[in-house]
Amino acid sequence: MASRVILFFIIIAVAAGCASSLGGDTLTDVLNITAVGKQPGICSKCICKDGKVDCSSKGLTKFFPQHKWAALKNFRPTIVDMSNNSFERITLMAELPIEVLNLSRCGIQAVEFAAFRPLRNMRVLDLSHNKLRYTPELIYMDVLNLAYNDLHTLFDMGVFIKLKQLTELDLSGNPLENTELRVFDSGWGSTLKILRLRSCQLTKIPRYFLGHFVNLERLDLSDNHLTRIPEDLNKVENLLYLNLNQNPIRELNIDTVVYWTIRGLAYILLKLKELHLSNMPILTEIGPGALGYLESLEKLHLSFNPQLRHISATALTRPAKNGEDLVGPMVKELYMKSNALSKVYPQLLSRWDLLTAIDVSGNPFRCDCETQWMVDVLVPIVDKLKPNASEAMVCSEPEQMRGFTMRYVHEVNRTMRCVYASNKNGAVVIKSLIGALLAVPIMAAVILLLKCGILALKRATNSDQ
Ligand SMILES: *[C@@H]1O[C@H](CO)[C@@H](O)[C@H](O)[C@H]1NC(C)=O
Ligand SMILES: *[C@@H]1O[C@H](CO)[C@@H](O)[C@H](O)[C@H]1NC(C)=O
Ligand SMILES: *[C@@H]1O[C@H](CO)[C@@H](O)[C@H](O)[C@H]1NC(C)=O
Ligand SMILES: *[C@@H]1O[C@H](CO)[C@@H](O)[C@H](O)[C@H]1NC(C)=O
Ligand SMILES: *[C@@H]1O[C@H](CO)[C@@H](O)[C@H](O)[C@H]1NC(C)=O
Repeated sequence: MASRVILFFIIIAVAAGCASSLGGDTLTDVLNITAVGKQPGICSKCICKDGKVDCSSKGLTKFFPQHKWAALKNFRPTIVDMSNNSFERITLMAELPIEVLNLSRCGIQAVEFAAFRPLRNMRVLDLSHNKLRYTPELIYMDVLNLAYNDLHTLFDMGVFIKLKQLTELDLSGNPLENTELRVFDSGWGSTLKILRLRSCQLTKIPRYFLGHFVNLERLDLSDNHLTRIPEDLNKVENLLYLNLNQNPIRELNIDTVVYWTIRGLAYILLKLKELHLSNMPILTEIGPGALGYLESLEKLHLSFNPQLRHISATALTRPAKNGEDLVGPMVKELYMKSNALSKVYPQLLSRWDLLTAIDVSGNPFRCDCETQWMVDVLVPIVDKLKPNASEAMVCSEPEQMRGFTMRYVHEVNRTMRCVYASNKNGAVVIKSLIGALLAVPIMAAVILLLKCGILALKRATNSDQ
């Protein structure tokens, strides 16, 4: 026992001598490390490396107090990831050069007033997947993610006024159905490029709301309760991307276009490159000219619309400036997968050969003389872009063609007959000569009427100005 005590003292003596020979600074460091060990700082719980503090998924249950943040001053963190922990409340932080702060998935219910104010360099704040009921006090930043919280109301505190340079805002997954989507200060909003309002239970977009975002490039309105295309879209002239997936819009038809024309929308959204109209539960029809005015459209997503039975041959055309020809956007990617389409018209696109991607699989195609062009022309295009993809283009009518793939019909050089179902009972009738003779003048008359109507409207709109 005594020898052990002596040994202990010898070790202490040696250590002390060693430390003093190394100089005072080292000794202080040793003491400092000891102090940190007793009172763990942020970097003892998290990974601090290359300006990044990674505290994600560390099972933390309390947000660090201000003095612990202050202790990171010399580390100069620019990225702090606190995601996937469990903090009820976010408290005041310290002055640090943090640019990206991730507080996603932390069960946060409240943010103390001015908690983020010391973070003057903040560019990105991720507060998604928490339990916030109110928008916290915010500071200058570029990207704000408040998605999947419990915000029932917005803009109630004018908190967004300070966000004069905001470029990206995600408010998806908040129950905003009854909120007044008001924008208090006319200044904010004009810098916004990306706005996400997915799954917000919105039944309509209030008038004048979108008008605040004159420079918006991407707008996500998917999974809401919208029954029509928001009329205010005519204010967001710079829009490149529009997502209207999963909304109960029944049809896009000439009325919609006329409606747009009156308000001048026919001549806006001219820059739109990508349109999503998929997973629409009740979308039944896309009528003549409905999408023809989107003259820059390159990517059209029209898939998984279980009721979409009809896409007009002229859905993607509009009268040319000379008023005689029909022109349309140069679509490069066309997705019309898993709808209820019995056919695709060859007139839908002027240049099928310019497509870089196409998917029309999973539709109940009627294989007759009207879809012969699909077998002859479309199958080789589809297969060239994706080998054997036309195997998923399957005939479901008439009876004798059911189950054949268009690829097979193409390979055996089959010429399909002109038959069509006359009614829902599935009776198949040979198309009568009279019908065929009548169809041409009727179609011509319809097209003429449409053109006249649109021209008249154009004149009416012009003379109004
Ligand atoms: C701990 O180290 C810091 C600098 O690294 C120094 O400023 C401070 O005085 C030290 N603390 C003690 C208790 O020695
Ligand atoms: C969140 O953390 C838990 C453990 O705390 C882990 O099991 C889970 O995978 C993490 N989730 C994510 C999305 O990182
Ligand atoms: C924040 O962390 C989550 C993972 O928990 C990640 O999915 C998300 O992209 C991160 N946000 C930012 C802005 O880096
Ligand atoms: C396409 O199908 C043929 C036979 O049907 C097969 O020989 C070929 O390997 C398939 N090609 C691809 C890329 O799947
Ligand atoms: C289909 O037509 C092509 C070209 O005309 C020919 O090469 C091929 O042998 C024909 N296939 C069948 C199964 O008749």
